[in-house]
Amino acid sequence: MTAVLKNSPSNSERLPVDLGDRAYDIVVGDGLLAQAGALIRPVLVRPRVVVISDENVAAQYLDRLQASLAKADIRNETIILPAGEGTKDLAHLGDLTDRLLDLKIDRSTTLMALGGGVIGDITGFAAAILLRGVAFVQMPTTLLAQVDSSVGGKTGINTRHGKNLLGAFYQPQLVIADLTTLDSLPRREFLAGYAETVKYGFLGDPEFFEWLERHGDALCAGDRDAQRHAVLTSCRMKAEIVAADEREADRRALLNFGHTFGHALEAETGFGDSLLHGEAVAIGMVMAFELSARLGLCPAGDVDRARRHMAARGLPTDAGRIALPSWTAERMVAHMHQDKKAMDGKLTLILARGIGRAFVERSVDESMVLALWRDILPG
Ligand code: NAD
Ligand code: GLY
Repeated sequence: MTAVLKNSPSNSERLPVDLGDRAYDIVVGDGLLAQAGALIRPVLVRPRVVVISDENVAAQYLDRLQASLAKADIRNETIILPAGEGTKDLAHLGDLTDRLLDLKIDRSTTLMALGGGVIGDITGFAAAILLRGVAFVQMPTTLLAQVDSSVGGKTGINTRHGKNLLGAFYQPQLVIADLTTLDSLPRREFLAGYAETVKYGFLGDPEFFEWLERHGDALCAGDRDAQRHAVLTSCRMKAEIVAADEREADRRALLNFGHTFGHALEAETGFGDSLLHGEAVAIGMVMAFELSARLGLCPAGDVDRARRHMAARGLPTDAGRIALPSWTAERMVAHMHQDKKAMDGKLTLILARGIGRAFVERSVDESMVLALWRDILPG
């Protein structure tokens, strides 16, 4: 349901995330950086924010945001972190929280994450633990962050044991997705976000997937109306799932379609920029479809259709093409056991009965998972 609420500029739409006393809005539109001050003013306890960004995003957009905050009489300071997945670690979290405490923030200060999922995740986690909780606002600037990571309150960092293993569920006060920022996104990063977009079609919305089959090229070529539709459709589905299952007791796990396989790939590539999160998810989603087909659950035609759609846009879909000789099936499954959904030493996987029909499976036969890796990895 799209709602036009208070303080919503005419070039934007608002979606509510119905979480009772932790409810908030997602504002999606063009040119919202210039209106960010006016948009966040109503959710601030006091007019003071600390903007946290990375060096790439700050170089492009910080001036505009600062001008907008100043225009709304909001005191603002900035902390700039290095760009990339390596920033989501304990050392950078410690540095960030110390720098925030150096600024003498208090519980009425709001943190503002300006950037992609890395900045959103670490800023949200810092907000969750600083002074036992300060407010934060998400201003996502990557497609991945606009369709997924800025919504739903999963915050955290990576450890040497795996992805996002330190973190908290902690909801933002507001999400402002300025579609204009997507124009400067490097193509590879855009495509990584496309993988998380198509995920919504795969997991529960076959019509959206069909729409992406028709409009995916336009979306990736920069068509703003297509981008708006994709971001709004994705956020609407995510908001609905999060409102129903905030802490991933069950249904929210569907949002991890492809992720358990993907996390194993990311662990092997060292959570670096050689394989982006969205790229790992693209490969992982094809593996989830493939395993589902091997288990007799999913038509082989759907596996091909999913693979072809992502490959045609330029996403990787085959782990065998990026694997190193050291990657064994056993190592990959060991990484999969680090997944937060694993319980009592058993894998929990998201499988599919077809495109748009994902479900949570807690009793996967591990030998089938090993066999899949063995068949895909070279050697
Ligand atoms: P990212 O934050 O590293 O951003 C990707 C790159 O694009 C960076 O180099 C960044 O500096 C640059 N960039 C960002 N916006 C830009 C812009 N508008 N113009 C030019 N350059 C820009 O990566 P990401 O793909 O946004 O996020 C990946 C992270 O998100 C992973 O750590 C993943 O685990 C996390 N994630 C979290 C959730 C969640 O629910 N919290 C969901 C999905 C993914
Ligand atoms: N990206 C998975 C989730 O938010 O639950």
